[in-house]
Amino acid sequence: MSLTSLVAGFALLLAAPAAHAADPPLRDLGTAKGKVIGTAVTGSKLTGTYGDIAGAQFSSLTPGNAMKWGSVEPAQGSFNWTEADQIVAFAQAHNQQVRGHTLVWHSQNPSWLTNGSWTSAQLGTLLQNHINTEVGRYQGKIAAWDVVNEPFNEDGTYRSTLWYNGLGADYIANALTWARAADPAAKLYINDYNVEGVNAKSTALYNLVKSLKDRGVPIDGVGLQAHLILGQVPSTLQQNIQRFADLGVDVAITELDIRMTLPSDSTKLAQQKADYKAVTAACVAVARCVNLTVWGFTDSDSWVESTFPGQGAATPYDANYAPKPAYYGIAEALGGTSTPPPTGACTASYSVGSQWNTGFTGNVTISCSGASLSSWKVTWTYGAGQQITQAWNATCTQSGAAVSCANASYNGTVPDGGSVSFGFNASWSGSNPVPTVTLG
Ligand code: G3I
Repeated sequence: MSLTSLVAGFALLLAAPAAHAADPPLRDLGTAKGKVIGTAVTGSKLTGTYGDIAGAQFSSLTPGNAMKWGSVEPAQGSFNWTEADQIVAFAQAHNQQVRGHTLVWHSQNPSWLTNGSWTSAQLGTLLQNHINTEVGRYQGKIAAWDVVNEPFNEDGTYRSTLWYNGLGADYIANALTWARAADPAAKLYINDYNVEGVNAKSTALYNLVKSLKDRGVPIDGVGLQAHLILGQVPSTLQQNIQRFADLGVDVAITELDIRMTLPSDSTKLAQQKADYKAVTAACVAVARCVNLTVWGFTDSDSWVESTFPGQGAATPYDANYAPKPAYYGIAEALGGTSTPPPTGACTASYSVGSQWNTGFTGNVTISCSGASLSSWKVTWTYGAGQQITQAWNATCTQSGAAVSCANASYNGTVPDGGSVSFGFNASWSGSNPVPTVTLG
């Protein structure tokens, strides 16, 4: 290592703050603006850091997959509510709403349903029973249901699906009517993608909602999924939200993510922050935009990378749960004043992994964005007598409550856009509060 890089690296170390999210959290910022801020979640992950962030930052949860027909009734008449129940219970424990997702869709249906050969009457009965069963089970616990998901083609014609082909366009009105009967308090939505701006598809959705309202069919809101591409927030987003509001329905941004070509870098992350801020600001600008939900809050829990090879980094937190510039874009549009780490910073975050009655496993991740490190040292002070017994991927010493961990010989380098983690075992008793860590 050259003297210059050592000095440059050390200067960054001294400047680097520990990773922290905005204070107050997004859910409180949203409340102040009359907005519910949500995330899609995977039930099995709702522990540890993932659960902490999901509970602290968001006031609404949407099961990413757990309430889809294929999840809840994998074999006809045989139900599995485990994950859906778990998410609803977590939401109740954290004073959060649940958006039910989704009752009528062409995708993620059980094979017994899609492979069956049904008359129109049988299909209608199956759908009615499904809606009765699922909406009825969670009656009073779901703020809003995505009753019908993705009914349109890009040109605004109806998508050819099991439902449209078997039941005609009125499957939509019938599904809404059945859902209302099963839970009169739940808000009922139609949800689709590529309907964020004013275009043929969103105009078809607009015309459908208008005609449903004219007919007295229960419809309370439209969901704009908002699976967006970096730098491509539609310029007509606010105008489009406003025209639905003027029709007399609520609007929700239901599945926001903004994908980029990998690898991410500080320029792309700054653009992504601007994009998240623009979407949030459009919702803030229209009173009837009631909910803004991200489709997974961490890059480690996103559908994007498996669906669009080479694309990703689409959510507000990185894969190590450090808030990205995008997080602060949302916070700023909600009136938050917390400032993100300065551009070109490396940060350290501490999390508790598994914990048992006498010990626990901890993890510290050092992440860099717009900067890089050639060596690092992380320090913290324990507040409740915790004692490190063993560390890996770092050399740790503890003197009293003061802990200091430096890189091992092989992991001092943290590249721009990259991260390095180390772990340790420690003992605890009484309580195990998370300390504030300092990089440098
Ligand atoms: O659960 C199985 C697991 O057992 C198996 O090992 C694994 C192997 O592929 O697959 C797992 O299922 C996957 C499931 O997500 C749960 O992770 C499916 O393959 C995968 O196709 C499924 O993808 C979901 C996708 O909908 C399906 O279309 C995504 O997680 C989910 O985020 C996504 O969400 C949709 C919304 O519902 C509607 N709008 C678009 C949005 C993105 O596609």
